[in-house]
Amino acid sequence: MVIKILGVSGSPLKNSNTDRALQIALAATGHQTEFIKLSDYTVGPCDACLGCIDTNKCVIKDDGVMLAEKVYKANARIIAGWPPYSSIDSRTKAFMERLYPLRHRHGLMAGKPGAAIVTSAIPPGLEGMPPAGELGVGAIQSYMMEEEMNFVGAVNVMGNVPCVNCGDNGQCSVSGLKMIYGPDASIEKMGINQLEDSPETIAALEKLGKDIGAAVYG
Ligand SMILES: Cc1cc2nc3c(=O)[nH]c(=O)nc-3n(C[C@H](O)[C@H](O)[C@H](O)COP(=O)(O)O)c2cc1C
Repeated sequence: MVIKILGVSGSPLKNSNTDRALQIALAATGHQTEFIKLSDYTVGPCDACLGCIDTNKCVIKDDGVMLAEKVYKANARIIAGWPPYSSIDSRTKAFMERLYPLRHRHGLMAGKPGAAIVTSAIPPGLEGMPPAGELGVGAIQSYMMEEEMNFVGAVNVMGNVPCVNCGDNGQCSVSGLKMIYGPDASIEKMGINQLEDSPETIAALEKLGKDIGAAVYG
C-alpha cells in the first residue's frame, strides 16, 4: 500500500520559512508526500449553510472541495501557517473551515493523524507580547482536536518581522522589531532568521515528520 502524507502551507511567499519547514518535515516522514500551497488555489470561508450535511461535501464551487478530498484521503496531514495579528493566517483558516463537511454525522476525520507547523516573528514565551506562535498552533490543534483526530505534535519556527523586508531597517514608529525587542533593536543587531541556521528547529521538524510518518500505523 502506498502511504501518502499531505502538507498544506498557508504562506503566500515563494519558498518561505513556512514552506521550507513543511518540506523538511514531509521529507522526514519516509513516505510519499504532496505539498500544497494554498495561495495557488481559491478557497473561500465556510458559508455556514450546512449544505454539506447529507453528502459530507461542500456546496461552494471552489478548490476547497478538492482540497478537503485530499485531506480525507491522505494517510496523515501537516498544516503549516503563520500568525498575522497573533491568530492563524486567513488562507489556513478558510481552508480548515472548509474541512467541516468531513465532520457531519460520521466524524470522517476521527483518529486520523495530523500535525502543525507555525512560523512566527514573536518568539515563544516572550513576556509582554502576544503568544503568536502558540496561538497559531492552537488554531490548527483545535481543528484537529474538535475532529477527534490524532494530534501528533507541532513545531513553532522563528521567522522575521515584516521590517526585514520593508527597507526602513525597523526604525519607524510602528516597527515590529522595536515592539518585540525594544527601542534599540535594529536588523543589524537582531539578524535575520533563516530556518536553516537553527539545527534545533531542523531537528524538531525532522522529529515531527518521523512521528507523523509512524502515526500512520496507529
Ligand atoms: C503582514 C504581516 C503581519 C505579521 N504579523 C505577525 C504577528 O502578529 N505576530 C508574529 O509573530 N509574526 C507576524 N508576522 C511575521 C510572520 O509571522 C513572519 O513573516 C514569518 O516569518 C512568516 O514566515 P514566512 O517566511 O513563511 O513568510 C507578520 C508578517 C506579516 C507579513
